[in-house]
Amino acid sequence: MSPGLEVMTTVAAYRAACERLRAEGGSLAFVPTMGALHRGHLALVAEGRRRAANVAVSIFVNPTQFGPGEDFQKYPRPLERDLELCREAGVRLVFTPSPEEMYPRGERTRVHVSGLTDALCGPFRPGHFDGVATVVTKLFAATGAAVAVFGRKDYQQLQVVRRMAADLLLPIEIVGLPTVREADGLALSSRNVYLSPEERQRALAIPNGLSQALALHAAGERRAGALRHAVLELVEPAATRIDYVTVAEADELRPYADDARVGERALVALAAYVGTTRLIDNVVVSEDNSPIRTPP
Ligand code: PAF
Repeated sequence: MSPGLEVMTTVAAYRAACERLRAEGGSLAFVPTMGALHRGHLALVAEGRRRAANVAVSIFVNPTQFGPGEDFQKYPRPLERDLELCREAGVRLVFTPSPEEMYPRGERTRVHVSGLTDALCGPFRPGHFDGVATVVTKLFAATGAAVAVFGRKDYQQLQVVRRMAADLLLPIEIVGLPTVREADGLALSSRNVYLSPEERQRALAIPNGLSQALALHAAGERRAGALRHAVLELVEPAATRIDYVTVAEADELRPYADDARVGERALVALAAYVGTTRLIDNVVVSEDNSPIRTPP
């Protein structure tokens, strides 16, 4: 019989459970989430299971990474369903703390990763990456895992977490997994539930635009502006508002000017509203050979 799932709400109980699993001889992989789990999260868990004897998942809608007017209150929290999915996926520990547990009274510490947060989502979500880096640091400290698995849909977040772990000398390997998509190309996101059927259809302009950039790059186009405008051409008519479409260096996330030429590897990333839902997506040209449907 496979071992069951344990659910903990306090740091002390969770840390003790992680230590116990390690003492029993099993390595531990960690998958941080905000819940509302979907196939993308389950792919992260599956990767964790490939890399370690046990997997721990955190489910915590982290208040410090939401700005005023963002969707902190309405973010979906289907905890019972999430626990069932974790159980089915063979997760051993779920940590689902309260905000007070993660941010004890009087707390004053934030983790800030500079540079990597200057472009892309950074200017549009002030404080967001400090909130992410802070909570991930706390979760890593509580878990003590050897490996943590993140999705590449949140590409900037992944780079920020990698840098933070390296800079703080945290003994943890950060693994980034490719974005999981619906058959029509839409990237899986817990926020997709906000989309009406009509908005869901319009949102396909995003993977289609990125697909176009991949195709252009594969055909030899190296002008950053041409790649960027190929995405804009498809996304602009479908989006209610566009925060950015940016072509950037894939590691340092420095944006290319439109008249610059990109190398073999470059990030094409965007954030756009469809209705009131903010969607992000990205591809790394030459690395992501597209699962995205080519536009008709
Ligand atoms: O990607 C997410 O779900 C969150 O940003 C994370 C990494 C769990 C931190 O709250």
